[in-house]
Amino acid sequence: MIPHSFLQDLLNRVDVVEVVGRYVQLKKGGANFMGLCPFHNEKSPSFSVSPTKQFYHCFGCGAHGTPINFLMEHAGLTFPEAVNELAQSVGMVVPQEPRPGGEGQDGVSWKATTGLVDVMKSASDYYRKALRTAPQAIEYLKKRGLTGPIAKDFGLGYAPGGWQNLEAAFEDYRAEALVEAGLVLVSDKTDAQQGGAARRYDRFRDRVMFPIRNIRGQVIGFGGRVLDGGEPKYLNSPETPLFSKGSELYGLFEARLAIREKGYVLVVEGYMDVVALAQLGFPNAVATLGTACTPVHVQKLMRQTDMVVFSFDGDKAGRRAARRALDACLPHAADNRTIKFLFLPAEHDPDSFVREFGSDAFAGEVERALPLSQFLLNEIVADKPLDQPEGRAKALFEAKPLLGALPPNAFRTQVVHMLADRLGLPFGEVAALCGIDGAIQRAVRDAPVKAARRRVTGNEERALRNLIMYPRSIAAIGEDEWTAIAFAERRELFDEILMHVRALGESADFRLLSEVLRNTANAPVYEEIFREILTYDENVRDLLLAPETEGSVERYQDQERMAGEELRAALAKLHYEALRERCERLSRQSKLTTEETTEYADLLRQTADLRRRLAPLAARE
Ligand code: UTP
Ligand code: MN
Repeated sequence: MIPHSFLQDLLNRVDVVEVVGRYVQLKKGGANFMGLCPFHNEKSPSFSVSPTKQFYHCFGCGAHGTPINFLMEHAGLTFPEAVNELAQSVGMVVPQEPRPGGEGQDGVSWKATTGLVDVMKSASDYYRKALRTAPQAIEYLKKRGLTGPIAKDFGLGYAPGGWQNLEAAFEDYRAEALVEAGLVLVSDKTDAQQGGAARRYDRFRDRVMFPIRNIRGQVIGFGGRVLDGGEPKYLNSPETPLFSKGSELYGLFEARLAIREKGYVLVVEGYMDVVALAQLGFPNAVATLGTACTPVHVQKLMRQTDMVVFSFDGDKAGRRAARRALDACLPHAADNRTIKFLFLPAEHDPDSFVREFGSDAFAGEVERALPLSQFLLNEIVADKPLDQPEGRAKALFEAKPLLGALPPNAFRTQVVHMLADRLGLPFGEVAALCGIDGAIQRAVRDAPVKAARRRVTGNEERALRNLIMYPRSIAAIGEDEWTAIAFAERRELFDEILMHVRALGESADFRLLSEVLRNTANAPVYEEIFREILTYDENVRDLLLAPETEGSVERYQDQERMAGEELRAALAKLHYEALRERCERLSRQSKLTTEETTEYADLLRQTADLRRRLAPLAARE
């Protein structure tokens, strides 16, 4: 049997959004995540996953449950299998409860332990009450400028001096759960009064207590600050089954509504910063817990909002911390997200800044925060002599892992453009040297291959396809020949593609262009065209994805030239057909005005002209 307390701890550690998200594509919608229900067939999403309540619910079919239920129902696991899988994913080991009557292997009696959540709640209640009768602690908080209501919002407390205060808060001070929760320490000295058992004492003594809550509002850890100049200044809970510094953020629970309201989250470094900012008009702040910002932190934040503003001190340590945050952010830099970096004057943290200069001044700092692209670029080129080959090479060396960590999207392409500009090098060269032009191949390889090979015919489609396959073939097209696009049904697509092809210049090829187009509003249409291109002929696909492979270069150039001719023919045909249509319409009219007669004559001349141009091109088909 798996102990109930363990299941409780396990469910506190796993995240239903992450578990369900492995199987169902979820999109943030308000407080919840929505997706297509995996338990019944549907076309519009009625399946909702709640990060705060930690369960899923389908409004269509009524499916409902915890991550354990989900793995059982959806992945078909048995109960122990589901528990095991979840436990493994968060680094927990499933204990086996001793059978009734049998002796437990390790002597740990799970029946005796209350769930860690309950333990933490009791401790937190105790510390909060203790604050009321601790004038020196209240005095300290007042001195730091905190009001009563804000202390209450954050559940601030006080751990009194003395060694075993928690004896008053728990029935059994020697319960293992208190040690496991990180509240009680076991000394190597023995205690005569306890029959020679190891002495135990409170971890937190004479400290102001900041409870750290998970997204569901449960206390999972504490930070305790000394009142005087003692060391360490802050003492934190150790890593426990409930609490992990690398994935928790102080203040996230308290800030979650304000984050939605303000549309962004502020990430700061200290407990006190979060509380002070909340008091002075920035209730949307959270803090890392004395550790560097991790990708898990960023992912957690991105579940709440699409805009993250990091705040760092302007000193060396702040810049180092910012660099760590930058590294953690890169994999999450999606096109629809905004990530910014704010650097305060060296001698300030957000708490001292907002108290000295006021909320408006701090809001101004937020406003002026450096966009991710800017900060990233600064990091790449910092301290490198870009007027020398060595300096440029160093910058490229620095850039490679950073750009490689970005998802292959429009943002990355933009950053490469900026870097290329800064270094005075062609876009394609920078992309190639940074090794990011292979990403498209991966994306294509991983994309589901359409079963049926369908070749889109039609003149316009052919023109679009050629343009996308061999973008540099536009060099063969004369300025006047492009006028045909005005008659295209998908004129908007042609315009968009041409704009990007021209922007890419010499480096334009299928790989780069498709990457750019994939990030436009018309992406679904383009995806369809890419699929057609890539599934039509294996040789063509290989050529497009690796034109520089040995022996391919000449063939690629041949194909490109042919594509140019085809494109040209297609444009002429498009033009011709449009004119013909107009001619026919006019000829069907019983009577033509003078202008129309002139137009008609003109059209006949133009179509004859186009037909002459088309003849040799058509003969090739
Ligand atoms: P700071 O030293 O910048 O503290 O540490 P602070 O937040 O400005 O605190 P006040 O204003 O002096 O009260 C920033 C964060 O680093 C962690 C804590 O999370 C703290 O909030 N820290 C700092 C520790 O964990 N232990 C320490 O001894 C010091
Ligand atoms: Mn401070």
